Amino acid sequence: MGFPEIRPRRLRTTPSMRRLVAETEVPPRSLVLPMFVREGATEPTPILSMPGVVQHSLDSLRKAVVEAAEAGVGGLMLFAIPREKDAVGSGATDPDGILNVAIREVVSEVGEASVVMADLCLDEFTDHGHCGVLTPDGRVDNDATLERYADMAVAQAQAGVHMVAPSGMMDGQIGVIRAALDRAGRTDVSTMAYAVKYASAFFGPFRDAVESSLEGDRRTYQQDPANATESLREVALDVAEGADIVIVKPALGYLDVVRRVKDAVDIPVAAYNVSGEYSMLEAAAAQGWIDRERAILEALTSIRRAGADIVLTYWAVEAARLLR
Ligand code: PBG
Repeated sequence: MGFPEIRPRRLRTTPSMRRLVAETEVPPRSLVLPMFVREGATEPTPILSMPGVVQHSLDSLRKAVVEAAEAGVGGLMLFAIPREKDAVGSGATDPDGILNVAIREVVSEVGEASVVMADLCLDEFTDHGHCGVLTPDGRVDNDATLERYADMAVAQAQAGVHMVAPSGMMDGQIGVIRAALDRAGRTDVSTMAYAVKYASAFFGPFRDAVESSLEGDRRTYQQDPANATESLREVALDVAEGADIVIVKPALGYLDVVRRVKDAVDIPVAAYNVSGEYSMLEAAAAQGWIDRERAILEALTSIRRAGADIVLTYWAVEAARLLR
């Protein structure tokens, strides 16, 4: 009978020993909180498929961003639900459109205590729910959409956004947005590119959150979950077009992609722990089937371990408090 000479368990004996040798941390500054604001709302409305997450009014948003900044959260990602939608998503480029108004108010509330980011996409603003404008026969028109994104970027910059986050998966979007910002004299506004975004069923609850009008799916512009190498190509294009940060989305089912992207680039990598990942865990915890806090921290740690420098998560504030 040979007893082992080498015993990895020695480094797991006590909490302080485990803390000493932990390889991965989740600093609050690495967390970004996605937030929803609804035009015309007078109080926050719960999102049924995302327990604990709300559509904010402008008032409740202002309070929530201060709380998030005080918790040490690194960034705030704004999404807005306009009262009216149309074919080209006019609300997205209107300086008085809800997203641009929200950016202005959030920046005036938190200043530089957190990085203020905004979703740069048309899907919340179009009556057909697609991320771009359509051709007469109903296909998403890549290049016509780019012109809308350029205007949207400039409108968000004028509202004071620190960083724009283009999520529409149109070819060439980063280059066009970068050029538009630079032409407008806003070389200071950075781009966080959704370089890798899969056509995922895990966006389901988000579509409730933004009251999406989409029928059908986004498979002609978002990626096939079967593909990983393709993601490296998407990332290389966005880096070449001037992206400052690249996002991989969703996170938990795509940790292999997060790692490959991290190994391939020399800019920060973010991963988006999406709505469906949030709701699955919350639903199981509500049933008493998993330990909620441990599961949240394990999920976030796993995303960081895979290589994400930044994690977008609906648990950002709670996790920041748990981790401090
Ligand atoms: C598009 C956008 C989506 C999400 C973030 N930006 C939805 C989509 O592509 O259908 C999903 C986020 C989530 O599921 O948490 N503006």
